[in-house]
Amino acid sequence: MTYSLTLRRPDDWHLHLRDGAMLRAVLPETARHFGRSIIMPNLMPPVVTGDDARAYRDRILAALPDGMTFTPLMTLYLTEGTDPNDLASAHAAGLITAVKLYPAGATTNSASGVRDIGNVRAVLERMAEIGLPLCIHGEVTRHNVDIFDREKVFLDTVLDPLRRDIPQLKVTLEHVTTSDGIDYVREASGDIAATITTHHLMINRNHILVGGIKPHYYCLPVAKRATHQEALRKAAISGNPRFFLGTDSAPHTDPNKESACGCAGCFTATNTMACLAHVFEEEGALDKLEGFASLFGPARYGLAPNDTTITLVKEDTPVTYPAKIETEDGPVTVFDPGHPLFWRVLDQ
Ligand code: NCD
Ligand code: ZN
Repeated sequence: MTYSLTLRRPDDWHLHLRDGAMLRAVLPETARHFGRSIIMPNLMPPVVTGDDARAYRDRILAALPDGMTFTPLMTLYLTEGTDPNDLASAHAAGLITAVKLYPAGATTNSASGVRDIGNVRAVLERMAEIGLPLCIHGEVTRHNVDIFDREKVFLDTVLDPLRRDIPQLKVTLEHVTTSDGIDYVREASGDIAATITTHHLMINRNHILVGGIKPHYYCLPVAKRATHQEALRKAAISGNPRFFLGTDSAPHTDPNKESACGCAGCFTATNTMACLAHVFEEEGALDKLEGFASLFGPARYGLAPNDTTITLVKEDTPVTYPAKIETEDGPVTVFDPGHPLFWRVLDQ
């Protein structure tokens, strides 16, 4: 028996597309199923000005294969030198959808990020005034804070004080990985939401470390213990519109992942919808998938849902998808949840 499920076309509210050959190789993987994505600005050098965002958007659109439609929603990379006027005019021109805060040193290409949040206060106040959302990589980077505690410490020492200081600021806590983060976002007053990745719904830290180290499960924020994974799954299926999909699909070539000092990032663009259908079915909540993947994100950003649909079908035998995407820079391994998947997105 085949089950099928038709959803509004989903969007991805946190995506890394990179540039050049990598962009050309990974963009179709997202555009095949997703209508829009919030595009992360952590290129080398980062996307910091309105002009940078326009140029990057044009490169993305130029890389889109004929016959595919996809809307990149651009972000600026917040630095301590960001000019509030440039940011406001990029917003007014419809060039950017959000601004991204990377604490300096938190993750891939974050060296130009913010060292002291006090140094970007004027920019954040301006953003609150004009209603421009801030997407936050919510981890402290102090070397004496344990990597598994960095999100919780960020909530207590940075995010909560910041939101008390500038209550009108619209905040998205990106790729939340802890029950602490879920509780904070669910209970906070004011304008806050969180994105949840595909992989954090499917793995916990045991998957990374038990039985040999699995570099393709290493990402930042790093997956936490199973109780946190459970809290993420419950939030994703809760129907609470504060929680929605941001895959954080982040391609790195295999040599960069399978290394003595491997890069952080899971590449999930190719099979995200198959993975999500699997998770939501396991949770007995397939009826909640459309809200999570297709409705709550647009609502949060003041946009209409996509007017097209995708159809997922459940097969009797495992579905296949490529183990790797070939790029001119080298192969990129597709996220493997470690068990078969049975859901497939119908070609349209
Ligand atoms: C991202 C990347 O590779 O750009 N890596 C990751 O592990 N998620 C950066 C990020 O979002 O932290
Ligand atoms: Zn990311």
